Amino acid sequence: MTGLERKSPATATVRQEVEERGYALLKSYRANSSGEEVASELGKVLTLGEGSPVHRLRPTPKDDAAPNSYSGIYGLDVFPFHTDMAHWRHPPRFIMLRCVVGFEEVPTLLADGAEIVREADEDALARALVQPRRPVKGRLPLLRIFQPSESFGIIRWDDKFFRPASRAGEHGVESFRAALGTVSKHSIALVERGDTVVIDNRRMLHARSPVPPGCEGRILERAYLEQLH
Ligand SMILES: [Fe+2]
Repeated sequence: MTGLERKSPATATVRQEVEERGYALLKSYRANSSGEEVASELGKVLTLGEGSPVHRLRPTPKDDAAPNSYSGIYGLDVFPFHTDMAHWRHPPRFIMLRCVVGFEEVPTLLADGAEIVREADEDALARALVQPRRPVKGRLPLLRIFQPSESFGIIRWDDKFFRPASRAGEHGVESFRAALGTVSKHSIALVERGDTVVIDNRRMLHARSPVPPGCEGRILERAYLEQLH
């Protein structure tokens, strides 16, 4: 059997959709399979340290969360648009989010970084360097908001944890922020068990809607994928 034959039609479609529009949504996808099984069926799973590469995400009130985390800052309020692991030189390429317990009222929002780059001042972005507000492993690396490449490049965006590293950085951040405000947003509600979205984390920004009373039981599984099959 060749590698090609082993791929189910779903995985090839997912890869194509993600390439074209930055994400793919699979409704009630293999609802009875584990997050680990589905993640490794879809792509090459990135392992981060010990334990399962699939993490369970639950809404957490501010006081119960680590102070430096999104939950510690925003609690059950809206999480602003960002890319994951933006401080890494090579942030994880894809994010898989999968519904265990879902609510229509708490969609994940997506914004297309390719559109933002088109809207923003390209020169300002190219020169814009940012750095983490606090050292990462004792270092404050200088990073670009947008690092173009032949295929597309890498967008990193985390307004809360980054600050501009120079005047040009300030200009770039302002231009990016303004463009983010104007582009259309995609609302993805993971509601049924197995609803799964795969997001290109180097192109798309994501955000979480606020969690209204009664929806605190939301549970998503998250895995990072280095590539899609
Ligand atoms: Fe995130």
